[in-house]
Amino acid sequence: MKFLRMTDLDLKGKRVFIRVDFNVPQDDAGNVTDDTRIRAALPGIRLALDAGAALMLTSHLGRPKEGEFKPADSLEPVARRLSELLGRAVPVRRDWVDGVAIAPGDVILLENCRVNAGEKKDSDTLARKMAALCDIYVNDAFGTAHRAEATTHGIAKFAKVACAGPLLAAELDALSRALGNPARPLLAIVAGSKVSTKLTILEALADKVDQLIVGGGIANTFMAAAGLPIGKSLAEPDLVEAARSVMTKMRARGAAVPLPEDVVVAKRFAADAQPSAKSARAVVADDMILDIGVRTAARYAELIAAAGTVVWNGPVGVFEFDAFADGTRTVAQAIARSNAYSIAGGGDTVAAIAKFGVTAEVSYISTGGGAFLEFLEGKTLPAVAILEARAVS
Ligand code: 3PG
Repeated sequence: MKFLRMTDLDLKGKRVFIRVDFNVPQDDAGNVTDDTRIRAALPGIRLALDAGAALMLTSHLGRPKEGEFKPADSLEPVARRLSELLGRAVPVRRDWVDGVAIAPGDVILLENCRVNAGEKKDSDTLARKMAALCDIYVNDAFGTAHRAEATTHGIAKFAKVACAGPLLAAELDALSRALGNPARPLLAIVAGSKVSTKLTILEALADKVDQLIVGGGIANTFMAAAGLPIGKSLAEPDLVEAARSVMTKMRARGAAVPLPEDVVVAKRFAADAQPSAKSARAVVADDMILDIGVRTAARYAELIAAAGTVVWNGPVGVFEFDAFADGTRTVAQAIARSNAYSIAGGGDTVAAIAKFGVTAEVSYISTGGGAFLEFLEGKTLPAVAILEARAVS
């Protein structure tokens, strides 16, 4: 991927506009409950401030109605956290599209960009106005790179200079390393409740990976496709054929979808449900599969230990319930111990990594949810495509 990088530019005295992704979780009082995305944007922010740029930051927060600012949509709570992290006040500016007064060395947070009419539809009129605010447009919002909106796409068409910030560049470098020219064997773990939401990822990875470990409801559908009993486990009967064709495609190229040989089941979906370990062939009609068994977890751990690259999206069991967390714990610890280059992304996966205390041992943890998945699907991310186009124009 070829795009201009913020780190290669002279930012001194320039009006720099960074699109970040500060779409962070909040509690009922609006306080930020997870500041990972804010911390991840700090290197780009510091780079601009240290260079003496006049710095404008903006982000969306939630999905507000355009043209109607409501206090609940405000970036004020984010500004408070950012101020603490930077050790300096970061004021929030409303109604900023038609002009912003800012001096070199200063930083302001431009209020929720999705309140501006035309943002979602990538309006050229809005994008031109925003481009006029700056000398350099920086996209450092990997989490929103799959959206073609005025602050992620349109503005990059019209800004004098359009480049990638350090977070966006690091995310793309990590994903390209894992999927572009990976150290083999390349192993992917794709798990989640439904095959339907991840079918295109499974199909795309079936052409690339050496082993595809499936988990959760996806694994149940694959087990059904392999003729294994799944009782009343979460699965999608109408996608059994699609699962079969992924397995056939993988087998044809000498690759594999290893399926559970043992599982942990319960009669109901609850934290206090009685767990029962059994062979995958012994699942009965009123069983729900809620985790992989110890033999399966050990086999997956061996595959992970032997891998050159591991891409992880989705827990392999209901790890939120302690009785059904062992499979995901074993996978997380195996990734932590492995010498493989490992990349993980997605809300549940990042939560599992934190729960099992292996954050520092995973080579790269993505800040992207939907964007990470779309990259795995092999889709073009519009916010990246426009930076590439600008790099050659
Ligand atoms: C995310 O949280 O995945 C990104 O910030 C994108 O948010 P969106 O799905 O509202 O576009």
